Formats: sequence, C-alpha cells, structure tokens
Amino acid sequence: MISRRNFLQRAGMTGVAVSVAPLVAQTKTDNGEKLSEKKFVPVDAQKVRLNVNDKIYDLRIDPRTTLLDCLRETIELTGTKKGCDHGQCGACTVHVNGKRVNSCLSLALMHEGDKITTIEGLGTPEKLHPMQKAFVEYDGYQCGYCTSGQIMSATALLQEPCGKSNDDVKEAMSGNICRCGAYKNILSAIQSVRGISTGEA
Ligand code: FES
Ligand code: FES
Repeated sequence: MISRRNFLQRAGMTGVAVSVAPLVAQTKTDNGEKLSEKKFVPVDAQKVRLNVNDKIYDLRIDPRTTLLDCLRETIELTGTKKGCDHGQCGACTVHVNGKRVNSCLSLALMHEGDKITTIEGLGTPEKLHPMQKAFVEYDGYQCGYCTSGQIMSATALLQEPCGKSNDDVKEAMSGNICRCGAYKNILSAIQSVRGISTGEA
C-alpha cells in the first residue's frame, strides 16, 4: 500500500529529478576553454556560435535570450550595461558588423555569423581606443554607468554621416542617456577625436 504521504514524496522527488537534470548547459570558447556552468537553461536551449571581440563562443542558450543578457550572463563580459532593458537609454550599445545596436532589443540567436564588438574589444587599459582616451581626458563621465554605451555609440558615429556641428553630434548621440548629465564633456570628447572644437570653454 502506498500512503498518500509516500506517493507525494515519490512524485516530488521524480519531479525534481526530471526538472533539474536537463537544466545544466556548458559553454566554451573556440580554444576549448570552459565558461562557467550555467544552471536553469531550459530543455529547449539552442546552440549558437557567436563571434565576440574576435573570439568564437559555442553556446547553448534559451532562444529568448537577448544579446545583452548573453554577453553579460553567459559570456560574462559585463562591460556592456543594462539600463532600461527597453531600448531607451543606450547603456547596452555594442557594435554588430561595425554598426551600433541596442543589445537589449536583439536576440542573441540572430547574430550567428555576425562580428560583435563590445567595450572590452575596443581597447585595453594599456592601449585605449582614441575615444576612450578622450573620455578620460575630457572627464566624459561621473558614475560611469552609461560610459561604455556612450563610447560604443561615439566610435560608431565616427563612421556615420554626421555633420560637424555640436548640434549634429548631440542629435546623433541622443539615444544615449547620461543620468549624471555629463553631456557637455561627452560632446567635447567626441569633437576632439573628430578634430573639431566645440567652441566652448
Ligand atoms: S538597456 Fe538597452 S537601451 Fe537601455
Ligand atoms: S556618467 Fe553616470 S549616467 Fe552617465
């Protein structure tokens, strides 16, 4: 005879075994280096191969994972920030094939074959990108939370048909919000890299 209590205990244990076993996925880079083991990956996880900062990552991810969450949580590149998660602040800006993209609005699975660049791939502490140097020189930040997104947008802007005036740059950078209000210095940093004076002291 199975008592009601025994039945519930067994059913509970079976349920746990069935639901936990497939919830572990491993991810690795092209040289076989293992990223941390990820738990709570759903059973319908999809394989995807991403090229991030010229490194290949073979991943198994929830198909609903945004590029932003994939970069931060799966690949563990946390330089790209999550501000609004709704395409309104620009903190999550990365480059996809050289163009700026709000990574919170894009699914990671859509980017197989694309060349993705994050702030970590732009420069290194020893060899900063000229835009990174300019942000340091002109104090283009306060808390720094928006800064990687600002710099990724600013470097993409250098390849875009942006006019020379301060207003042109402000318009082109209007998708990147700085809650600290460092806009004046961000503008100076960008114009300095373009070889243009802002005309402001
Ligand atoms: S986090 Fe993507 S636009 Fe705000
Ligand atoms: S420096 Fe703080 S939000 Fe921009």
